[in-house]
Amino acid sequence: MDTDAASFARTVIDWYRRYGRHDLPWQGQDAYRVWLSEIMLQQTQVNTVIPYYRNFVKRFPSIKQLADASIDEVLQHWQGLGYYARARNLHRAANIIRDRHKGRFPQTFEAVAALPGIGRSTAGAILSFAFGQRWPILDGNVKRVLARCFRVPGWYGQSETMKQLWYLAESVTPEKDAADFNQAMMDIGSMVCLKSKPKCEACPLRQLCSSYRHHSQAEYPQKKPSRARPHKTTLMLLHRCGEQVLLWRRPPSGIWGGLWSLPEVDDEPAIPLWQQSFLSTSQAPRNIQDNVIHHQFTHYSLDISLAIIELEDLPKKLSDADNYAWVEIADLVNHGLPTPVRKLLSSLQE
Ligand code: ADE
Repeated sequence: MDTDAASFARTVIDWYRRYGRHDLPWQGQDAYRVWLSEIMLQQTQVNTVIPYYRNFVKRFPSIKQLADASIDEVLQHWQGLGYYARARNLHRAANIIRDRHKGRFPQTFEAVAALPGIGRSTAGAILSFAFGQRWPILDGNVKRVLARCFRVPGWYGQSETMKQLWYLAESVTPEKDAADFNQAMMDIGSMVCLKSKPKCEACPLRQLCSSYRHHSQAEYPQKKPSRARPHKTTLMLLHRCGEQVLLWRRPPSGIWGGLWSLPEVDDEPAIPLWQQSFLSTSQAPRNIQDNVIHHQFTHYSLDISLAIIELEDLPKKLSDADNYAWVEIADLVNHGLPTPVRKLLSSLQE
């Protein structure tokens, strides 16, 4: 190990002795309990896990008792923790250990990582905590610590980024005290190197942290760039007759579901057909205002143009009277309207 890696590990372990967590109920317990705790902790916070962990080992004190239990009873003891595939994998793995490993938790990386529900990081955590073996870990917290400390470019979905993070995790893990080191990295990640507002003043890695030096903690880990949202356009029809405007109630599902809005067509040439169908009226002069509203939805952005159509007389016929209505401008306040449409119509009230 080079001196940088050695001093990284020493710094982390010294911090752990003073400030890390030493009183978790699975610490210093057998491999079964360490395994169980790591599975419970995969998607769940320590404080939530503790009562479930205690209850679970009380009912299933050994791998054999877990393997012999029914899946229904196992799931019942998992109830409330969520991500139930974890419990099913745990039960399957317990059966494999009973049948192929004589009921004893395996001690080689290959055998542990072959069990259902155990990936590379969880295998490393179990083997280091239960048997003191030297294996790197890379759970969500450790990824963040390393990405910041070494300013690793890219995001977790990229294989090159993950390769670099695993390489770093491997490089900084010490020969001795890998268990304390791994627990310390998890603790630093969950107590100090927080996702937002990291507590750098309290961080033992401050002097070694490249992000701290460059004031770029907020930039690491880098986020996957959000894809440009597709762009859509629509043309809203504002039919006005004296003090009344024509509203359309949007379908119950989809954007602005169930709200009152303005009727829409794709483009200007579609207006006469729409008017024939819904108002049985002939064309009226219209004034088109392009792109009066730009609205960002989660999955796309929408440019809304507006066609203002003044009618002399209220059309006699209104098709689909359930979903179209002539509304007094003064009565618009009593209709649920999408904010951009409300803004658009508010100019009429002035
Ligand atoms: N998250 C996953 N494993 C953990 C552990 N051993 N301690 C704290 N948080 C964890």
